[in-house]
Amino acid sequence: MKGKPKVVSIVGARPQFIKLAPLVGELRRRFDHTLIHTGQHYDENMSDVFFRQLRIPRADINLHIGGGAHGAMTGRMLATIEKNLSDLDPAFVLVFGDTNTTMAGALAATKMAIPVGHIEAGMRSFVKYMPEEINRRVTDHVSDLLFCPTAVAMNHLKAENVPGRVIRSGDLMYELLHHSRATIKANRRLLKRLKLTAGEYVLITLHRAANVDCEENLSQAVSLLEAMPLPTLFPIHPRTRKRLRQFKLWSRLQKAANVITCDPLGYLDTLSAACHAHMVMTDSGGLQKEALFLGTPVLTLREETEWVETLRRGNRLVGLDIDRILRLLRSRLKARPAPYRVGGRKPSQIIGNEITRFLKER
Ligand code: UD1
Repeated sequence: MKGKPKVVSIVGARPQFIKLAPLVGELRRRFDHTLIHTGQHYDENMSDVFFRQLRIPRADINLHIGGGAHGAMTGRMLATIEKNLSDLDPAFVLVFGDTNTTMAGALAATKMAIPVGHIEAGMRSFVKYMPEEINRRVTDHVSDLLFCPTAVAMNHLKAENVPGRVIRSGDLMYELLHHSRATIKANRRLLKRLKLTAGEYVLITLHRAANVDCEENLSQAVSLLEAMPLPTLFPIHPRTRKRLRQFKLWSRLQKAANVITCDPLGYLDTLSAACHAHMVMTDSGGLQKEALFLGTPVLTLREETEWVETLRRGNRLVGLDIDRILRLLRSRLKARPAPYRVGGRKPSQIIGNEITRFLKER
């Protein structure tokens, strides 16, 4: 009797663990599934805590490739993934989102003629040199199955005439949130520890290269933090921490009266902090949506967003415009989440079905 088809999922960075979590059970049930972790994110609070909290089984293979310049990191991943795929000989490879891990996984597989599925396909910021935009475009154009979370993403792929099959799958991040909502709401341990009152503080996160790798922009972000009229919780991403030190902004930040800094938080604490906040300010793609889903308005600290649907649902693009941000902070923005299911079916089910169908047709 023929066994289950071999499917390899490749993850490496924080947002990918979140997208994998609601899907991994489905993948293990249907396929002979192997999980490769590239090691792009490697700190306990950037990786292990997500596996533990989201009950993702340990990666079967960890490549330990984190840090370094984009080209060097991607190159090392490409070579090492190729070697592993050659040993595993899978029928299908699944990649997630828009990181260097995503593009390296997709390229390695497609060059070995292994079909690729891209989760969260079709997202576009139309900012050509944004690292994530490069990763997305390349990945979408070599993938065989393109799983789009939104109708807008579907339209982008149709306009670009990608060769793969474009599928509206809905949003796995929402699927996970939907199941964890009660736990997220009930969790107040961080608020207690930091003596924050629900509805009376702001959660802010910053890690995009455009904001933190440019000294002028990061200094402007610190000026924003100095001007915050409410207690402001700021979990600091490793990239941001490095740059704050490099640009000698660290001590200025520590003196900002209303700012509480901490290390990056796990899934549960981040989302509980977002859920109970008066407002979330972020340059993260995922947190924009997650905050709205939890009923918290969002200011996106960028000039553009891939998640354009959120702009009608309580998200505002504000860049680092301090006056505008302070004005909006006082206003009463309302948050409404976008629907995440398509035709009443869960994204994880749709993705599992489509991969099965694709493999049967081959
Ligand atoms: C990456 C993704 C971005 C995603 C983000 C989520 C790319 C191009 N970018 O950005 O799309 O939104 O992850 O967090 O892939 N570092 C640590 N410890 C860690 C992880 C990183 O110290 O656990 C350091 C790295 O060594 C590096 C810096 O932080 O110096 C940035 O890490 P990197 O993986 O290059 O990109 P991110 O900024 O995390």
